[in-house]
Amino acid sequence: MDFVKTYIDLSQDSLKYSALSIAFNPIFWNIVARLEYTTHFLTKLALGKPRCGCYTLAVIIFSLGIVRDLLYEKALRDQPIYEALDLLPVKVLAAVLFAYGNVLVLTSMWALGVTGTYLGDYFGILMDARVTGFPFNITDNPMYYGSTMSFVGTALWFAKPAGIALSAFVLVMYLIALRFEEPFTAEIYAKRDRERAASKKEK
Ligand SMILES: *[C@@H]1O[C@H](CO)[C@@H](O)[C@H](O)[C@H]1NC(C)=O
Repeated sequence: MDFVKTYIDLSQDSLKYSALSIAFNPIFWNIVARLEYTTHFLTKLALGKPRCGCYTLAVIIFSLGIVRDLLYEKALRDQPIYEALDLLPVKVLAAVLFAYGNVLVLTSMWALGVTGTYLGDYFGILMDARVTGFPFNITDNPMYYGSTMSFVGTALWFAKPAGIALSAFVLVMYLIALRFEEPFTAEIYAKRDRERAASKKEK
């Protein structure tokens, strides 16, 4: 408990803003995506073009991600350093985690494309087949785990225990998001497959 009190300065507003944006982003995109799925409000705003709607959401989510990263860096700057972490081997580990995390995020974006990355399924833009190549042969959710690794890497690099705590919060928010997203998108694809099977039978 004393460790936490010494190294996580809860009185800093920047820590709260960082935690707030970490929580806000996945909640925001899940609510917007579900609303899009049921009402197609973004597609309607984009004059009936689902792709334009999805690109718009992509820009918004991407920007929110940048804001979150900036707030995280600001929060870390206001937090105390833990000297025992301020060592070369820790910095090396930090760099490896940060780099590998980014490799997972960027290669999965590359593999999925813009609509695959940014909730295209909710707009009715479905992938033809499940992507199974790297990085999806390592984990089902390379973007979430990669992003978490980058957060941990940054925390270790600056030797900030508060950053480790925020990274754990990032992971928790992603795990909660997955509990909403995975069954929902699985059902979107199951529906498509049922419709495909039905139309095959008709022929
Ligand atoms: C995943 O795929 C990549 C590239 O195809 C390959 O080099 C790597 O060994 C694979 N990893 C696993 C765990 O299968």
